Amino acid sequence: MQRLDRLANLGMLSAGMAHEIKNGLVAIKTFVDLLLEKNQNAEMGEVVRNELIRIDALATQMMRIAAPQQATHQPVRVHEVLDQALRLLQPLISTKLIALKRNYRADADTVQGDGGQLQQVFMNLLLNAVESMGPNGLLTVTTERGAGDVDPPFLIIQIRDTGMGITPEITERLFEPFFTTKKNGTGLGLAISHRIMTEHRGTIHVESVPGKSSLFSLSLPMRHS
Ligand SMILES: Nc1ncnc2c1ncn2[C@@H]1O[C@H](COP(=O)(O)OP(=O)(O)OP(=O)(O)O)[C@@H](O)[C@H]1O
Ligand SMILES: [Mg+2]
Repeated sequence: MQRLDRLANLGMLSAGMAHEIKNGLVAIKTFVDLLLEKNQNAEMGEVVRNELIRIDALATQMMRIAAPQQATHQPVRVHEVLDQALRLLQPLISTKLIALKRNYRADADTVQGDGGQLQQVFMNLLLNAVESMGPNGLLTVTTERGAGDVDPPFLIIQIRDTGMGITPEITERLFEPFFTTKKNGTGLGLAISHRIMTEHRGTIHVESVPGKSSLFSLSLPMRHS
């Protein structure tokens, strides 16, 4: 509850600010692009442009966390959404020489929810996994029907990497907004993902062997057919 409260407050504070920052950035970026076009060896210009892109991404994330998004509730085919997320990340996965294993074992994959938001969750987890690994890592995406005789049954989605792993101290703080160990991280990916999962009556859990691997498990109630 405390985590949700903090997110709500953060949201109200940052929504308007992020929007104004983005408006300002559009003007500045157009200007810098023009300057760079005229003066192609302007080293400082490149730095400015890259920082602008970074700030823009940060503001976009802030708006996402802030906006009480109208979640549309529709049937979502999870395997399709996973494939779409993996398609977007394919160039990065190839460049980093990471092997990808798809293990879709669930016999049914329809949940009720917002496909766009769920895709955002998958992207955040997949990106974290890719970022945690060097060359020759293995990224495994698994789905299966949850065990137990519950109604409705759960769909389990697992994203496993063979990366640096997560120490217990970091595990405690993983889902805090703005907690990051990365130089250019915003620390919002998992906070946003946690919120989206809760809104879908789902859960998100992590297990890790530090120095070796991490496993993020999602569970979502399946749609009654
Ligand atoms: N698969 C993983 N392996 C190792 N560490 C992880 C993994 N996923 C998350 N973490 C740790 O959790 C922290 C928070 O992750 P989160 O996705 O919320 O933010 P971020 O990746 O740092 O930044 P952002 O996602 O906003 O760009 C990361 O900085 C990293 O330390
Ligand atoms: Mg992240």
